[in-house]
Amino acid sequence: MCGIFGCILREGQAVKLINDGLKRLEYRGYDSTGVAIINNNQMEVRKDKGRIEEVITSLRILDMPGKIGVGHTRWATHGAPAMENAHPHTDESDSIAVIHNGVIENYLELKDEMIEKGHIFKSRTDTEVLAHLLEEEMKTDIGLQGAMLRVLRRIKGSYAFVVLSTYEPDKIYCARNESPLVLGVSENGTFCASDVPALLPYTNQVNYLRNGEMAVLSLEGYKIVKISDGSEVERPTQEITWSPEMAEKQGYTHYMLKEIHEQPTSLRNGLRLQERYLELLTQFLDRGKEVFLVAAGTSFHSCLAGSYLFSKLARLTTFPVVSSEFMERYGSTVGIDSIILTVSQSGETYDTLKAIDHARMRASTVLGVTNTVGSTLTRVARAYLIQQSGPEIGVAATKTFTSQVMVLSQMALKLAKTRGKLSQDELDEYDQKLHMIPDWVEETITKNEERIKQLAEENMNEELFVFLGRGISSATALEGRLKLLEITYVPSLAYPAGESKHGPISIIEEGVTCVFVCPRGETHSHIIGSIMEMKSRGAKILSICEEGDEDIKRLSDKVVEMPKGIPEELSPIVYITPLQLFAYHLAVLKGLDPDMPRNLAKSVTVP
Ligand code: AGP
Repeated sequence: MCGIFGCILREGQAVKLINDGLKRLEYRGYDSTGVAIINNNQMEVRKDKGRIEEVITSLRILDMPGKIGVGHTRWATHGAPAMENAHPHTDESDSIAVIHNGVIENYLELKDEMIEKGHIFKSRTDTEVLAHLLEEEMKTDIGLQGAMLRVLRRIKGSYAFVVLSTYEPDKIYCARNESPLVLGVSENGTFCASDVPALLPYTNQVNYLRNGEMAVLSLEGYKIVKISDGSEVERPTQEITWSPEMAEKQGYTHYMLKEIHEQPTSLRNGLRLQERYLELLTQFLDRGKEVFLVAAGTSFHSCLAGSYLFSKLARLTTFPVVSSEFMERYGSTVGIDSIILTVSQSGETYDTLKAIDHARMRASTVLGVTNTVGSTLTRVARAYLIQQSGPEIGVAATKTFTSQVMVLSQMALKLAKTRGKLSQDELDEYDQKLHMIPDWVEETITKNEERIKQLAEENMNEELFVFLGRGISSATALEGRLKLLEITYVPSLAYPAGESKHGPISIIEEGVTCVFVCPRGETHSHIIGSIMEMKSRGAKILSICEEGDEDIKRLSDKVVEMPKGIPEELSPIVYITPLQLFAYHLAVLKGLDPDMPRNLAKSVTVP
């Protein structure tokens, strides 16, 4: 996720508005900042690693003259935070400047093609390829609009692109596929931005660019065209009635709620892993004598789900362990043949980095899954995958959990293929289901949110919750319980359901709420037994089950129904969403701030 702002003005300096706009978008990313301005037909680009304020001051960006320009605040996805990877990216003649939010899936093949044609790349980003492709097209007499359309038709992946060029120095071109871009017009000019808050000081009449559309901005306003056939699109503007604070959260009351709702998008991005690195990581996993999955908190729950995925799909035994216990438990036995797969949203968690240091000292191979390019984890791991969730601001991890499980699922499937553990038909079916997950998550949220709010109201005064699941759903139960505990402070337990009768059942009495996670699959008949055990001791049963699952519905007091057809192995990614929403609404009803729970920090960088 990155922030984009562009403007064409009648009066005033573009950089002043770009600076303000980027500051309002800083929540979208903040590792590098850059600006391109055209003045007297000359393009000037200034950019560097660092937050907006730092870069604007150190490069004296506010001194840049000109009435047309674009700016970018970056959240790295390809290439570490560094001056050369900061946007805008330019072609070789510095006539075209490109900024981008998203991930270009086919950039490696396009980059190879451009290199063969003699282009020299200055960065390690996926974005730069667009500048070179445009430069190549501009060698014909097709014009900038034609060149844009031709290039956009070749790009696969998610993007909001904004292009400034001396070929047409009074226009800004932009395009969208799955990454947001909003257009607006005021008396003083025309604007584009990643999000409404950046436009609100100038106009509350906006037009959201849609997937597959390109827009041409000029002082006269904007023209929207379809990328597929170049035809013009007429669409009325929309009036925004949000306050600036609400606008920053896209109308949601809290970042946590916004991030829960962002999951269909973050999961779609999580499906766009770089094949080359996926391959590399799975090769290491395959070669290791033993594989440890090391992480803390929510990331540990992803590892727990991952251990079932590796075992069930790829027949690989792995050892999930919380980072802070790794050294005591395995520190004296890990060695040169051990693989340590670490998972960390921030890439900066102290306990996880400590475990990595130790593993490296013992000559083990360290691999990583993280959300943060340029984090310590990405610097010390032998190889890593970026989970592509975008920045998460709420302290309670939500979209980063589902993305991590999405990445681990793809690793398990790739490994299953390498090791010959699944047939091609099975692989194809899992792949098809994996691609349905973002839609299933969307459907779950849309259909169930009101019902979950109502369940939160009904359970408002509960003093204890018990979360239970079997198999991979025990990871979902643990994560559901962590969400509730973190932001509502209500005491709660989570257990593998089969284990509950070995102790925890003693606390069950009349009226205690037991939350059961019950997808269809191998564990279904066992979970029915566990529900009966709790029910017969007076527990109230709240079940998350498949739509039309009469066996579970009959035994439960309340149910949340999930879409049909989700394989049990992939269920945590979808089945966690009602539990995230339940925790969120309960916290809000209790008058608590779910974004800033007491005693917690987003990233725990201390021992
Ligand atoms: C999750 O809701 C928590 N905020 C916390 O448990 C978190 O997952 C943990 O601190 C690990 O962080 P990391 O993924 O950045 O390493």
